[in-house]
Amino acid sequence: MPRHFLRDDDLTPDEQLAVLDLADRLKAAPLSSRALEGKSVAAIFEKNSTRTRLSFDVGIAQLGGHPVIVDGRSMQLGREETIEDTSRVLSRYVDAVVWRTFAQKRIDAMASVSRVPVINALTDEFHPCQVLTDLQTIRERKGKLAGLTMVYLGDGANNMAHSLLLGGTTAGMNVRVVSPEGFQPDQQVMLDAKHRASETGGSATVFTDPHAAVDGADVLVTDTWTSMGQENDGLDRVGPFRSLQVNAALLERAAPEAIVLHCLPAHRGWEITDEVLDGPASAVWDEAENRLHAQKALLVWLLENSRDERRR
Ligand code: CP
Ligand code: NVA
Repeated sequence: MPRHFLRDDDLTPDEQLAVLDLADRLKAAPLSSRALEGKSVAAIFEKNSTRTRLSFDVGIAQLGGHPVIVDGRSMQLGREETIEDTSRVLSRYVDAVVWRTFAQKRIDAMASVSRVPVINALTDEFHPCQVLTDLQTIRERKGKLAGLTMVYLGDGANNMAHSLLLGGTTAGMNVRVVSPEGFQPDQQVMLDAKHRASETGGSATVFTDPHAAVDGADVLVTDTWTSMGQENDGLDRVGPFRSLQVNAALLERAAPEAIVLHCLPAHRGWEITDEVLDGPASAVWDEAENRLHAQKALLVWLLENSRDERRR
């Protein structure tokens, strides 16, 4: 069976650790693996992307593979072909599929009939490649993950919040999500994160008061208040979020050596100030770079741990 990465808890704690260790090795020696020699990977984007698109393209090439980068809006998938039929065809051409799309159920459908690994490059519900990268970045700066407190401030119902909950608890972290009423994490995701935390010694907690949440935290994470596809949803995505801005005063309440992450693109002056984004606590540029290393490791690991169904 192919191994997929559709949400963060598709990797067990041990598997996540193996991928992160490989990511560090590939960062130290970027051209040391030719694991994709003779292989092709399709990366399909139905939403805009800078980091994910470029890092998969470059990463696949560095591994000796052929990246096929496609604007999903130009495919037959966008007209009338079903997701399942598209997936059956893709499995005949490529060795892995990377997809950025809307609802999670779309990528679940892609994976359900795929004979090759399917990787979630962002859906409305999860952004697991980003959080794998965030974990690599935190471990680089802090030397460990388990036991650290990571606070996410923003839309608790978005893809980053959900992935931080699942990915962070898989790593044994204490994950706190601070969001306004009406923007809190999906109930089932919270239950899944708490379940994972019970196995790893981490925790998953929702807060409404940013000061209480940030108190003594090791890592602060923020993200846009308006995710792609939510631009016209009729909700006030500014007023209820103002007190969650990551600024110098809020950072002051975190642990002395706390770091700040943002998946980018940043909306300077909204969810984060210039002072913090460009300041000494910010790890965002290393975080952006690590997309390359973490995703290369993920591709190598998924292919190594999948049985090639096409040869049966
Ligand atoms: N962080 C991230 O996924 O960036 P892109 O939308 O530019 O790919
Ligand atoms: N939550 C953001 C992440 C962008 C990388 C969005 O979905 O637009």
